[in-house]
Amino acid sequence: MAILKKRSKRGEWKRKHLLGLRDLSAEEITYILDTAEGFESISKRSVKKAPPLRGRLVVNLFFEDSTRTRNSFALAASRLSADLIEFTKKMSSVSKGETLLDTARNLEAMGIDIVVVRHGAGGAPVLISKNIDACVVNAGDGFNEHPTQALLDVYTIRKKRGTLKGLKIAIVGDIAHSRVARSDMWAMSKLGAEVTLVGPPTLMPPQVDKLPVKVSHCLDDVIDKVDVINMLRIQFERQSSNPFPSIREYSHYYGLTVERMRRAKNDIIVMHPGPINRGLELESEVADGKNSVILDQVTNGLAVRMAVLFLVNQAAQQGGK
Ligand code: CP
Repeated sequence: MAILKKRSKRGEWKRKHLLGLRDLSAEEITYILDTAEGFESISKRSVKKAPPLRGRLVVNLFFEDSTRTRNSFALAASRLSADLIEFTKKMSSVSKGETLLDTARNLEAMGIDIVVVRHGAGGAPVLISKNIDACVVNAGDGFNEHPTQALLDVYTIRKKRGTLKGLKIAIVGDIAHSRVARSDMWAMSKLGAEVTLVGPPTLMPPQVDKLPVKVSHCLDDVIDKVDVINMLRIQFERQSSNPFPSIREYSHYYGLTVERMRRAKNDIIVMHPGPINRGLELESEVADGKNSVILDQVTNGLAVRMAVLFLVNQAAQQGGK
């Protein structure tokens, strides 16, 4: 395809699954980002379609709710001319006791080529990938990884700044329960950024000292030093105990307020994966302010997910593992 000429000069992609970013090289991540750049133009055409996945069947296998990721993958599949099955836990035979693997195998028996899976259990996409022949793309598994979110995050930063090399990035909030934080820190550090996790000790992941990051428990110490700040949602649904005394107190110490923004660099990039708890981790004026790229992240997610679907399918056709 003409739109992918630029990408073909650099490296190659051989994986038929995208399960996480931890094991990917900087070159592989860059390859996906370059491929996504090529796909951006499709969404700007009068006819917003290209044929690379014509005749392929993609299933959105979502066991958890989603606004952005599910619709973005559905649109990405449609833009690439694939057929799509939308699976939701609520309307499936999971309620009758069907297991995850039985669900996946039954869908495979219908001839699916790519499974996009979101599941509350970390490792569910890996398990599926070991038991079916179709390509598997992780759309978020437990606290583990959310690779396409991180890819669209680094894509958005690269678009704004040209490179991540040398940038200082803070990821703030509920790190312990965040698959976005895990994928982000792998992607950002591999691409040369200095990542600082910011949050109370109770919301830091275990063995944080073994991760390629710095740690701070004080947002006021880092707010004037960073080029990018990624605010995370407090994941109340994943917390088994109260990690902070009150929402008000959390917000006071870790919320990105208009007042804190006055102390930040003028061109700081403000990110959030969504959904936002307005007034909790982020004041509305900041979420909708001039430094915010939150909706750009969503827009860029489409090109990134088109690239991922395209690449895993291509790798499968070429016998990739
Ligand atoms: N960022 C993200 O994963 O959003 P959704 O839960 O809406 O997909």
